[in-house]
Amino acid sequence: MSAPATDNVTAAIAERRELVDDALLETLPIEEPERLYTASRHLLDAGGKRLRPSVLLLTAEALTETPPLSQSYRAFGPDDMDIMAAAVSVEVIQSFTLIHDDIMDDDDLRRGVPAVHRAFDLDTAILAGDTLYSKAFECMLQTGAPSENSVRALEELATTCTEICEGQTMDVAFESQDTVSTSEYLEMVKLKTAVLYAASAAIPGLLLGADDDTVDSLHQYGIDVGMAFQIQDDLLDLTMSSEQLGKQRGSDLVENKQTLITLHARQQGVDVEGLVDTDSVEAVTEAEIDAAVAELERVGSIEYARNTARELIASGKDNLTVLEPSPARDVLSGIADYLIERNY
Ligand code: IPE
Ligand code: IPE
Ligand code: MG
Ligand code: MG
Ligand code: MG
Repeated sequence: MSAPATDNVTAAIAERRELVDDALLETLPIEEPERLYTASRHLLDAGGKRLRPSVLLLTAEALTETPPLSQSYRAFGPDDMDIMAAAVSVEVIQSFTLIHDDIMDDDDLRRGVPAVHRAFDLDTAILAGDTLYSKAFECMLQTGAPSENSVRALEELATTCTEICEGQTMDVAFESQDTVSTSEYLEMVKLKTAVLYAASAAIPGLLLGADDDTVDSLHQYGIDVGMAFQIQDDLLDLTMSSEQLGKQRGSDLVENKQTLITLHARQQGVDVEGLVDTDSVEAVTEAEIDAAVAELERVGSIEYARNTARELIASGKDNLTVLEPSPARDVLSGIADYLIERNY
């Protein structure tokens, strides 16, 4: 994709991020008990790319053939729906999963600030995650969509959350497994990560009463691009600085995570466990990670993962033909490319 198209996509995300940020502030004020709500807001206030709510808003625009940003997201479409409430809901779920993920992955840094269990304490972090989880369902109930459509959107959100837990369980279990197959890895990332992209793309279809074919294609767009997104996340964990990422570089190697990169390397005979010689993210050095990356590059594992992500993006974009051509559809296609071109 050419540079101007990338600029276009990042500008489209930035415009929506600003509106989502405002809506998040309105939705989650600091109430009593203050410590709980301050902890719940900790990561939301720290930043985040807001990719999933952007996908949700753009899908809604593409479905109603609304020119991008031409009308209020709080009174959207023919029925004046509060589509922003749905966008906030998926971002709140994202934030909940990050709080609990950092506990599971023993990570200290998130969105450039201390993880919630470090900035507060473990009990507060668990509760902050749980609070966000239930708030997300409250938000999804507030779109003003016809009740039948609302129920379908809630059902999608609930299924998504169950699947994320299944995927995270697989992710953690894989840490102590000697081998994991490519299909097991792909199933794990589909569940832990891609389903939230799928929900973000499908939920506007459900709320707006789109036909089943449309909803299914949008869901599949999210699955494919979401899996590619996670492969890119695994690559960035190795190749980008902690400062750039806002989270600790090399965490996956330290935690013995199974990624497409390490699966491939193992098949090439690399002693993956021996690549870094520490079990704490504080102790791992840049030189150790650089040497590991050089070895993974040498055996073609980095390139292999990049190629798999590219294939997934191409198949994800094919699903967008279910939408009428529109500027919003073009941005959704551009976002797919951006998910594997991004460097944070
Ligand atoms: C991080 O997601 C969690 C994964 C599924 C890899 P993002 O990279 O989208 O994180 P934020 O929301 O921008 O912080
Ligand atoms: C996280 O995957 C998936 C979630 C459900 C949050 P990672 O563990 O790779 O995410 P990061 O790298 O910590 O953001
Ligand atoms: Mg993690
Ligand atoms: Mg994790
Ligand atoms: Mg990661």
